[in-house]
Amino acid sequence: MKAIDWSNIGFGYRKTDYNVRCRYSNGKWGEIEVSSEESINIHMAATCLHYGQEAFEGLKAFRGKDGKVRIFRLEANAERLQNTCDGILMPQVSTELFRNMVKKVVELNKDYIPPYESGASLYIRPLLIGTSAQVGVHPASEYLFIIFVTPVGPYFKGGFSTNPYVIIREYDRSAPLGTGRYKVGGNYAASLKANQLAHEKGYSCEFYLDAKEKKYIDECGAANFIGIKNNTYVTPLSTSILPSITNRSLQQLAKDMGLTVEQRPIPEEELSTFEEAGACGTAAVISPIERIDDLERGTSYVISKDGKPGPVCTALYNKLRAIQYGDEPDTYGWVTVLDI
Ligand SMILES: Cc1ncc(COP(=O)(O)O)c(C=O)c1O
Repeated sequence: MKAIDWSNIGFGYRKTDYNVRCRYSNGKWGEIEVSSEESINIHMAATCLHYGQEAFEGLKAFRGKDGKVRIFRLEANAERLQNTCDGILMPQVSTELFRNMVKKVVELNKDYIPPYESGASLYIRPLLIGTSAQVGVHPASEYLFIIFVTPVGPYFKGGFSTNPYVIIREYDRSAPLGTGRYKVGGNYAASLKANQLAHEKGYSCEFYLDAKEKKYIDECGAANFIGIKNNTYVTPLSTSILPSITNRSLQQLAKDMGLTVEQRPIPEEELSTFEEAGACGTAAVISPIERIDDLERGTSYVISKDGKPGPVCTALYNKLRAIQYGDEPDTYGWVTVLDI
């Protein structure tokens, strides 16, 4: 294992030894290549550079108390990438190729998987880009699929805690029939200004309403919204949000804990009725919400009255983390275990 101060690494890029690559040309995927290069050499007219033919994924590997490595919901990430490929006309990466490449890159960089005690993990970033030249707006005929990894620190350094959010109406992240449900770079470019605005105003993150009516809750930055009330787990049903794999997993765990799960449009005003709320995603599992301010309307929806995470979010967070680290059984087959 590398000599890294694992508990202070934060969430940034840190070089590891290898990445894995696979190229698509003449209608088929080639062999998996191992590379120690951090850069790529592509044509200046590549479709990923001009027309946004770019997709990515994000998943994590965790080292358990037993020393084994667990990759969380690899197949679900492969499936989501396949949907994204269909959405922006890129060739699908099969689940088998995705699995082989993820396992390979994790094994090759096993010295960078943080130890159990650190609470850190190995972030896995698959990236698919159109590489052949086009000047007209058309899909590429050649593609490059790369997976790199980087160790990331525990999201909650000072412990699991709440954060303030702000509703931003000046910018939309995605349109109802746009690409919000796909994990493509353009959605994130569209979110940068809103995110900057939220930070300038002293908030942890921006909060989006639906782009058409500005009436319903869409997403909290790059995470899904979840609200808890009356023993019910409520999360938005919307065509413009990314189907979060963490959210899907938490819905199952909430059901197991005896909660009712509702996936439906959530009007903004309903925010005043939640006992707990959170932003969920791979980075933090759940980032509990302290309050959501609507500056235009002069409303502040205070979710956590004492500024602390609520009991349901805490229980869900602990349960999912325990499955990821192998402290609790993996009843649903979410985890790929590597003995490395
Ligand atoms: C826009 C957006 N929504 C939601 C999520 C959460 O998805 P997941 O739980 O699969 O990480 C992410 C992060 O990956 C995201 O980028």
